[in-house]
Amino acid sequence: MKTKHVVDLTDLSHKELMEIIHLANEIKARPEDYMDACRGKILSTLFYEPSTRTQMSFQTAMLRLGGKIIGFDNPQNSSVAKGESLKDTITVIGGYADIIAIRHPMEGTAAAAAMYSPVPIVNAGDGGHLHPTQTLTDVVTLYNEAGRLDNLCIGLCGDLKNGRTVHSLIKTMTSFPNNRFILISTPELSVPQYIKDIINASQCNYTEVSSLVEAIPELDVLYMTRIQRERFSSEEEYRKQDGVFVLDKPKLKLAKKSMKILHPLPRVDEIDVEVDYDDRAKYFIQTVYGMYGRMALILKMLEGSRREFSPRVMPTHHYHCCNKRCITQTEKYLPAIFTEAGGDMLLCRYCDGRTLI
Ligand code: CP
Repeated sequence: MKTKHVVDLTDLSHKELMEIIHLANEIKARPEDYMDACRGKILSTLFYEPSTRTQMSFQTAMLRLGGKIIGFDNPQNSSVAKGESLKDTITVIGGYADIIAIRHPMEGTAAAAAMYSPVPIVNAGDGGHLHPTQTLTDVVTLYNEAGRLDNLCIGLCGDLKNGRTVHSLIKTMTSFPNNRFILISTPELSVPQYIKDIINASQCNYTEVSSLVEAIPELDVLYMTRIQRERFSSEEEYRKQDGVFVLDKPKLKLAKKSMKILHPLPRVDEIDVEVDYDDRAKYFIQTVYGMYGRMALILKMLEGSRREFSPRVMPTHHYHCCNKRCITQTEKYLPAIFTEAGGDMLLCRYCDGRTLI
């Protein structure tokens, strides 16, 4: 595989993504053929933020491939607690492990880590920004359960502002023809403008609505998300959004019999437990597809991978990113790297945040 790091799933070519989906299915069908595929290799999971599925499915994936794992799930038990920078942690772990999966609360962390890592970096979630291996989980699920990745009417419901899984999923699904997105949220939690720009630049289209009941009859896929409590500035702001969208049995009666319900999990209260017993609920089998997807991704990323540092990156501008959640706010040595987005607008290449000059 040519791609060295996976900061977002769009770092993979269409061909590479389809190869990984097919490989995931092949591993699922014949796991015994792959049980030594990563013998002698080490995966490091660096989780600066809580996780159940992503961390453990990465670890399980590597163990089932015959490899080994190292890492932390609480940075306070590492030298991060003594003030070690991201750059230094990544440089050191890159000397121990063959591949690194990193989760961090600041947006753009995986892109920053990729600048200093001699081994492949996989973004396991960077704040409210992106979550590519959840998207891999979602596309493996859709490929198997819906039978296609194109011509889908996909409803995304809940916290579309802070839900990184939503951003990565939309980015990836715009590369398949004739997908249509129905974005179901309150105005406060709508999809960021840069994601809408990506849909507009593709052959897909979107509508924004505030009613799940009105949207549900049209949907081939309903992607529910939780309200991301940890991204709110106050409990009061979170409470205003909590419980606005709940999928329950009466609403499900309005949906197509063939509709697939996905959720990245964890669930809080946005899907009633009664829905779990409906055949359309795919969110638990989705977690299993995710493990096979990660096995395929690890295999592909390690194929022909050599330990080597990337050339030093120099700043492109003398401005600072305005996004308070951008990794450049806390890791001050990071070079400012922007893309000019027309007019007075700069796009931060770590977090995709917009800065006006
Ligand atoms: N979907 C997901 O990222 O779950 P975790 O936060 O438990 O890893």
